[in-house]
Amino acid sequence: MDHRFSLLFVFSLVIATSFASAADSDGDDVIIRQVVGEDHQLNSDHHHFSLFKSKFGKSYATKEEHDHRFSIFKSNLRRARRHQQLDPTAVHGVTQFSDLSPAEFRQKHLGLRRRLKLPSDANKAPILPTNDLPTDFDWRDHGAVAPVKNQGSCGSCWSFSATGALEGANFLATRKLVSLSEQQLVDCDHECDPEEADSCDSGCNGGLMNSAFEYTLKAGGLMREEDYPYTGTDRGTCKFDKTKIAASVANFSVISLDEDQIAANLVKNGPLAVAINAVYMQTYVGGVSCPYICSKRLDHGVLLVGYGSAGYAPIRMKEKPYWIIKNSWGENWGENGFYKICQGRNICGVDSMVSTVAAVHIASSH
Ligand SMILES: *[C@@H]1O[C@H](CO)[C@@H](O)[C@H](O)[C@H]1NC(C)=O
Repeated sequence: MDHRFSLLFVFSLVIATSFASAADSDGDDVIIRQVVGEDHQLNSDHHHFSLFKSKFGKSYATKEEHDHRFSIFKSNLRRARRHQQLDPTAVHGVTQFSDLSPAEFRQKHLGLRRRLKLPSDANKAPILPTNDLPTDFDWRDHGAVAPVKNQGSCGSCWSFSATGALEGANFLATRKLVSLSEQQLVDCDHECDPEEADSCDSGCNGGLMNSAFEYTLKAGGLMREEDYPYTGTDRGTCKFDKTKIAASVANFSVISLDEDQIAANLVKNGPLAVAINAVYMQTYVGGVSCPYICSKRLDHGVLLVGYGSAGYAPIRMKEKPYWIIKNSWGENWGENGFYKICQGRNICGVDSMVSTVAAVHIASSH
């Protein structure tokens, strides 16, 4: 049996019976016990853990490690149920990250460097007209989005967000989609924040997309993914070869906290580098995420590739559209590697740190 569906079944029981006690902070535990009884709960946790291990090929070296992971897994099941209650238009459940504590998850799979504000000297994107924007738009339909990649156990999200934006910009400039090297950024980009000199891009320990654009501008460009492949570690030396540059930055700028401007820049300039709070993404399975509450503390870099509204009927916000976001956790996460999050309230900070990049038009030989 597909554990997603069995979990969904539990969730739907929880939801059906829980609204009265949702205010109780430990409400879902109480309800689960009422629904299935304590013995069943334990058996069902074991069952879900077995399915999880086989689906994601997990094995643990020792009994201690196994028991430790099982206890984290159980608390993540409770967290997924809580997320489901707080975010009813998405589906939350077991993911490949269900045996990681929130701290491990942040350290290994996110990687946006903490910062207090955007650099005041960052170029601001010019204000664009917004009257003729399409109601739905998806750069995947226009060939500007490379296949979903996987950052592995390395806090290098920022490099994937930056390459994704430059891949799109380069496509607009050249009409060719070329996958670009995150490893070059991980190994070679140590660009520091102009305002916080001790805060620099540092491989698997995090970085910022704007600093990555600054590095790329100074270095001359990025190599192809295939010429400088991803290893998921930052222990290697920089192997940048200037003669193999595949795409170059012309300029980059930050977009104001205005969803119409974000949409207009997306349609005109290609996919955008955005930051987000990823707490709901650890348990996200599909649908449009629109949590009642979500921290705006940014901890993850991703790529905004489109927006839409079809098939989304939220309870609270009628016909509000959503953003379509490309993540870097492989195709087995989320909706084939993508995430949908509702527009309208700067949910999880998704509108607060958005940058656009333009690529140098490299004249192709005719
Ligand atoms: C950025 O570069 C592109 C491509 O060269 C150019 O068309 C655009 O005007 C530039 N934008 C800014 C704000 O300088």
